[in-house]
Amino acid sequence: MTDNDLLAHADAVSERAYAPYSRFSVGCAILARDGRVLEGVNVENAAYPLGICAERTAFARAIVEGYRPGDFVVAAITASPCGGCRQWLVEMGVERVVFRNGDGVRTMTPAELLPDTFEL
Ligand code: THU
Repeated sequence: MTDNDLLAHADAVSERAYAPYSRFSVGCAILARDGRVLEGVNVENAAYPLGICAERTAFARAIVEGYRPGDFVVAAITASPCGGCRQWLVEMGVERVVFRNGDGVRTMTPAELLPDTFEL
């Protein structure tokens, strides 16, 4: 699967976002080393800060299914990842991140997205 295929998958997944408040649907598709694709969408809440981003729903799902940091190759996202999700991308050890930014598509490593990362 190419990075473009994965981003197309994220586009399709974004249709399932629950974003009645912002009306900004985000999709995330993560390619795991075993070839599986893990999907996530943003899920909002009437108590706005409780909403969760597409990247985090995708990684949380993956973890529940038994995947662990380092099991992921690429994360494709339909939007530029927010600051908090950049920290997740670092934690999950994904090799690269492909995302839409305005009219273009960018590919960056987690370290490029979030230099001097916080670590315990
Ligand atoms: N959002 C994501 O799902 N991922 C990001 O990295 C950026 C923001 C969502 C959160 C919220 O539901 C909507 O986009 C508008 O901020």
